[in-house]
Parts: sequence; structure tokens; C-alpha cells
Amino acid sequence: CGIVGVVGRNQATPIIFDALRRLEYRGYDSAGIATLENGHVERRRAAGKLDHLASVLARVPLPGVTGIGHTRWATHGAPTENNAHPHGTERVSVVHNGIIENFEDLRRELEAAGQTFSTDTDSETIAQMIDYHLRRGLSPREAAHETLKRLEGAYALAIIFAGHDGMVIGARHGAPLVVGFGENEMFLGSDSLALAPLTRRIAYLDDGDWTIVTPGGAEFFDMEGRPVTRPIRTTALIAGSVGKDGYRHYMEKELHEHPVVIGQTLQRLIDPATRRVVLPDLPFDLACVPRAVVTACGSAFYAGMIGRYWLEQYARLPVDIDVASEMRYRDPPLVPGGLGLLISQSGETADTLAALRGMRQAGQHIVSVLNVEQSTMARESDAVLGTVAGPEISVASTKAFTAQLSVLACLTVALGRARGHLDAAAEERMVTALLDLPSRANEVFEQRDAIRRMAAIVAEARDVLYLGRGSSFPVALEGALKLKEITYIHAEAYAAGEMKHGPISLIDRTVPVVATVPSGRLFDKTLSNLQEAKARGGRLLVFTDTQGAPRLRELAEVVVEVPAVDEFTAPIVQTIPVQILAYEVALLKGTDVDQPRNLAKSVTVE
Ligand code: G6P
Repeated sequence: CGIVGVVGRNQATPIIFDALRRLEYRGYDSAGIATLENGHVERRRAAGKLDHLASVLARVPLPGVTGIGHTRWATHGAPTENNAHPHGTERVSVVHNGIIENFEDLRRELEAAGQTFSTDTDSETIAQMIDYHLRRGLSPREAAHETLKRLEGAYALAIIFAGHDGMVIGARHGAPLVVGFGENEMFLGSDSLALAPLTRRIAYLDDGDWTIVTPGGAEFFDMEGRPVTRPIRTTALIAGSVGKDGYRHYMEKELHEHPVVIGQTLQRLIDPATRRVVLPDLPFDLACVPRAVVTACGSAFYAGMIGRYWLEQYARLPVDIDVASEMRYRDPPLVPGGLGLLISQSGETADTLAALRGMRQAGQHIVSVLNVEQSTMARESDAVLGTVAGPEISVASTKAFTAQLSVLACLTVALGRARGHLDAAAEERMVTALLDLPSRANEVFEQRDAIRRMAAIVAEARDVLYLGRGSSFPVALEGALKLKEITYIHAEAYAAGEMKHGPISLIDRTVPVVATVPSGRLFDKTLSNLQEAKARGGRLLVFTDTQGAPRLRELAEVVVEVPAVDEFTAPIVQTIPVQILAYEVALLKGTDVDQPRNLAKSVTVE
């Protein structure tokens, strides 16, 4: 969920609404705004996307210079108007991002004390508890602090109080919250991007902090209520670059940004004069790292899987990898001094953040591959390797993925060299392949017609099987995920060699097989697997390169041939057409490409 708060001199509702637009990537099941007008709390809410709230506000405007807003990704309770935030009573109104784990106990307690609930949400418990304390005669500050002490789980909160125009209380524990400093106007937001057009002067709350924000500034407190200071930083974010630039969807625009983003990311890590990979200074010696443990969620996890193939093959580094939601509870025995490698576009994903903290406790050096360099993970890492992808708005990740791969490829080269497994010639070959990527990535778009022919077949299917071997296996996983996310067609990815142990039984004319088969060491092996699928009546749709294409034309119904590149960088080039395929299918299906149902771009709950 995304939250925002405003207190100051201008009408709050338009400012909050615009900020919610920038936070919509965090969820768009329902939305709402509450303001203070002559001491009264007023709110407007709507189920569905922000446009629905816009129509409500057009019908019934919401005046006031102090307010809070929320865009929701439902956890407890269906995404109805009644469950939409803000929640509260006539005395208090609350927006909440996170999950309150002990809400059932608290709710029982509050009901016994005479509070009447009107929703199924965990968030309402917070408002009801504050209301309870206000009724007992506590001040807003005391009521908020008493309530925070009782909450278990994760939260970022913004709270307004009837009769207290000109004040918003914010709090953070396990979910992000920032304070923005304007001129006689102050802001709260889930991230600095939401506040970027309003102010670039930002203070980050530490976990457990809470803050009282008034037009003149902000006071900060820790969990025990002791005053603390939090520095104001100037962010470098430029919100102006957030637009569709004439493309139909953000996803289409972002797909077209692959070549530029790969180039920009590599530029940061490769010295053009020496053509060597130069990582930022690390507070530990890469050569001494005994092994790596890699974790992430969603697409970032598949980038990590490709990273594992590289780190093992080229740097000869032992790698353990798992999705963050598993890793955080697996409690694997880690060798102290190992490399804890986290990958995240947002730097806020709750599971990845928890895994980061677990790895730190286990004595790992924390290196994060992040797109948002002002994020919570950035602040908790020993080193950040930035992906220079710019804001990624489409919920389904595209350019952030290839940027992550570009960083991981450079890290592989640096580790390979440090560990003595890459000589100068090998490094030169790998760097040349990397520097060649932006142009090769550009050429992929010449295959648009072939990809559209594939899309026409996939769009008719109910189930699709994606195959790949070696570093092409995570490419297949990414392709299947993308298809599921934005077209709602069921897709499953398998390591090509494993197909014969199960999914082969699914294959017939109605289940297209989409395979990623770049030329190289594993080409013939994958080809045999495709023969097995073909022999069972499967329709083969194949992504390959100019070198592999001649041997696949007989076999496959549609062949997409991207430029042949070094085996090392092949997964980066091969990812692009696989993502474009999902986009083309979504166009045929007419789905909501940028904001597919039930998903959120940044998942800050467990
Ligand atoms: C969500 C998004 C995915 C993304 C994943 C991880 O599920 O829909 O596109 O890959 O979160 O997000 P992160 O910001 O950590 O990369």
C-alpha cells in the first residue's frame, strides 16, 4: 500500500491525490483520502483504481489543508469501499501500510472496552485503539504513543485528529515512511518519489520512529518516546522522467528502454579507458569471500538465478540461492564473512528486507543490487550496486531485470578476477561482450513481427510451457511469470531436461511450448528436448539467435532470431523478446497491462 500525508497552507486533497498517483505502483485495489476541515474529519473512499476516487471527489469535494491518503493492496478484508482506508471514528483517521499481526487480540480487547468496529481490516484496530485512548482523555500524542507500543507486525502510519488542524502523526516499523520538508508545508509519504515534485528535502524515519509533523517542521521520537534527530537529505530523484513518452503503456516504453538502461548501468561499472570492471569501494575483500547467498523475490529472484550460473561458472564461487520468503525462515548455516547478495528494484520488498537483516545477523557482508538508491535496503547494506534503470512504473518488471543482470555480470567479472579464475584475456572477452549489449539489445526489436506471430498462438492457449537450460532456464521462468502476470494465461517454466519427468504428459496441440535456445554449449541438449516435445504433437515457438536459427526452422512453428552473442551475455539479450511476447499477448487479450489485477509493484508486507 502507499500512504501520504500533508499539512500546511494549500488545499490538501489535490496534493494527496497526485502523490497517490505516484504511489499507485504499491497497490490499486481501493483508495481514500481524509482531511480536517474546521476541526472535523471528513473522508472520501472508493473501491478500485484511483480514477474511481477521482470521480467521487469530483462529485463531493474534500476541502482542508491537513490530510492523509492511501492506495491499497488488500491483505485483510476484500478490496471494497468499506475496507478502504482511511479508517477511523469522528475523533481520528488513520492510513496504514503493513500488517498488524496481533489485531485479533487487540480487537477483542477494544470491543470489550466498548469500541465499535465497522470493517474487517487489521488497520481499523489502530484507529479504534487511538480513539479509545482519546476518549479516556489522552492527548493525540499520548494516544498515538500508547497505541504504537501495543502493535505487533509491520506498519507505516499517518494519523490525523479531529480538533487538531495543522498536525499529522506518522510512524514506521517494518514499512517505509519518509518526511518531506516544504515551505510552511510538510509531507509524509511511503517513498521520496511520491513527494519528489513537492520537495526534495527528505528525512527518513528509522524503524520504530514516530513523528509529529506540523507546517513548521517535524519532531522525531523513538519507540520509547525519546526525542531523536533525523538528518534532512536532498534526494536526486527527478520525477519529470515519469511519463509514457508517446507509448501506449509504461511497459512498452520500459521495454524500449532496455538498451539504454543496460548501457547506463554498465557505464557505472566499466572503465572505458582500461575496459576493466571497477566496482565501488567495498568494505571487505572480494578475494576472501568464501561463498555467496543470493536472495530476492519475483523477477529479481530470476535475475539472481542467472547470477548464480555466472558466479559458479566464471568466478567458481559456491552459491546458495532461494526466494526471500523461504530464505528468511530457512535459517541456513552461513559461513561468517560470506557475501549476502540481495536483488530488488524497489529496495523495499518486505521479505527481501527481512532476509537482508537475517543475513547481517549471520555475519554476511551485505551487498544489494538496487534500483531505488534511497530505499530502506540501501540504507541497511554495506554496499549498493545501483541499477541505472530510472523509475519503473509498469507493475511487471522489464528494464530493471536486464539492469540487474548487467550489474550481476560485472560482479561476476570482478569476483572471477579477485579469486584468480579469470585471466586478462577472459576478462577482456567478457567485457567486450557486455559493452556490445546495448546495440545487440536494440536489434531485438527488429523481431517484432515474428514475436507477434508467436503471440497470436499463445493468446489462444490456456496453458503454456516455457523451457530453457542453464542460464536460459531462469529466462524461461521470467517469461512464464511475465505471461501469467499480465495476460492471466497459465504458464509454467521447466528446466528443459526435466520436462521428460512430468510436464511432457501435458503436451498436445493446445499447449504451446515456448523455448529459449541460444547457440552454445547446451544448444544440442535443448534441441533434443524440443524433439521430444514435437514427437508428442507439441507446437514449438522458439527464441534463438542467428547462429541457432537454421537448425530450428524445420522443427519450430515460429522462430525468433535475436543477434548471436557470447554465451555469457546471451540470457540478457534473450530476456527481451520473451518479455515482449508477454506484452504482445496482453495487447491481444486486452488486459490492463501496466496494472494487472491483484498485483502490486512493491510488496511491503510479508
Ligand atoms: C512484485 C512485483 C514484481 C517484482 C517483485 C520484487 O511482486 O510485481 O515485478 O519482481 O515484487 O520486487 P523488488 O522491488 O524487490 O524487485
